Parts: sequence; structure tokens; C-alpha cells
Amino acid sequence: MNKEVSRRTIVAGNWKMHGSRVANQELLQSLTALMTKDNLSTEVLVFPPSLYLDGVSKQLADSDIGFGAQNLSEQAKGAFTGEVSASMLKDLNCGHVLVGHSERRSLYNESSKLVAEKYKAALEGGLIPVLCIGETLAEREAGQTMDIVFRQLDAVLDVVGTEGLSQGIVAYEPVWAIGTGMTASPEQAQEVHHDIRSHLRELDEALAANMQILYGGSVNGQNATQLFAMSDIDGGLIGGASLKADEFFQICKAAG
Ligand code: PGA
Repeated sequence: MNKEVSRRTIVAGNWKMHGSRVANQELLQSLTALMTKDNLSTEVLVFPPSLYLDGVSKQLADSDIGFGAQNLSEQAKGAFTGEVSASMLKDLNCGHVLVGHSERRSLYNESSKLVAEKYKAALEGGLIPVLCIGETLAEREAGQTMDIVFRQLDAVLDVVGTEGLSQGIVAYEPVWAIGTGMTASPEQAQEVHHDIRSHLRELDEALAANMQILYGGSVNGQNATQLFAMSDIDGGLIGGASLKADEFFQICKAAG
């Protein structure tokens, strides 16, 4: 089960709506101190609430930790009250942005079509989108996991094509595993990651070989090593455990 050498692992921390200026500063101070001790080969990213990106950008200016936003507008600019555009995120030195997180899809009614428009807006603004896809428990129990995952992926492919998709990152996050402590087993996750890669291979061999596919959903310091050992899992998108520097660092170490 050799990993493709070209696929660098990534560990990304999704802070969701947590933190404050002081708490963020402390968390990043602890994390950067831990990271200077070990020379990790994995790419480490954090996704704070947009309001704090400027502060995080300043604090991380001299570090190897990258950062991005949790959401963006599908529009480039204009009368869209409350929205944040790709170019504004770029202006704050963001490198990445999450799109289609299950909380955005389910709580804010983001359709796969809208998620695809956001993916496109991110690319046009020079950001690397991290496309989150995944099935609910009911969908899994109904045997629809791959239908759902492929549909979410294909919606983006329809808008940006294989070339566009190849410029981003995919995160498979089964909805039933997010924030529940009920992680997918390494085998369950690997099966879906493998099928996603096979689906991409039907379109483009290089796309399938190079696509970084992260796993997300209750990853912690205990289960990360086994999950990341699977051949098609290229790292993780971490929620709760990314708010604790020690545990997040442990997960980063598990990825390389
Ligand atoms: P969790 O969240 O690690 O707390 O399950 C993952 C995510 O929502 O990205």
C-alpha cells in the first residue's frame, strides 16, 4: 500500500465558530512552539473564523503553518451584505478556503450547485479550495454513500472541469462522523477514498493520482495514525481536536 510520492499529506484544522483574539493567539503560540521542535513533512493549515484571519495572518507570517477561511461568497464583489469575497481573503494572505462543509450544506442550505460556484470563485481569486463531501447516516444506511459523494463531486466537475478540480483538495467527511466521536473505521474511510479516486481515474489518470483526499470526522490523537496509514487517505480535516495544540500537533505528527 505505497502512497504516491507526489501526494504530500495535509492536516487542516477547522476551528468552526470557536476562539477569540486571545485564545487564537495562545493556540497558535503553542502550536508554532511545538512545530519548531519537529521537522514535519506534512503541510499544516488552520481555518479560523474570517474575522480573525488578519490577526492569524500576522501571527503566522514567519511560520510554516498556512491558513484559510471556512467559507466565501460565490460572487466576486458588489451588493452582497454580510458576504466575504475570494479577493478579500487573498488580500489577507489566505492560501485556502473550505467549500461545501456539511454544516454549510445542511444548516445554511448550500446546494451542490452553489458549492461548485464557490469552488470556481475560489480558483478565480487565486485560492486553493478544499471541497468537503460526505453522506449522512441515513444515506449510508440506505446504501447511497457513493451516489451522494459522486453527485457532490460531479457538481463541481460540471462547473470547473477536471483541470479546475485538480487545483483544489477534496475532504471526505461522513456527516455522521463529524463532531460525534463516531469516526469512520480506517477501512470504511479507505473504501470511500479509493472509490473517489477510481471515479476520478475514469476522467483523468493524472487527476486521480495527484488529488489529495483528506478524511474528516472525529479524527483525534488516538485514531489519526491508523487512518493516515491507508493508501488513499492523504491527511485530515480536523474539527474539535484542532482546538487543542497538543492533540492537533500529535495528529500532524501522525501524518508525517
Ligand atoms: P470533527 O469535525 O473533527 O470535530 O468531527 C471535522 C469537521 O467538521 O471538519
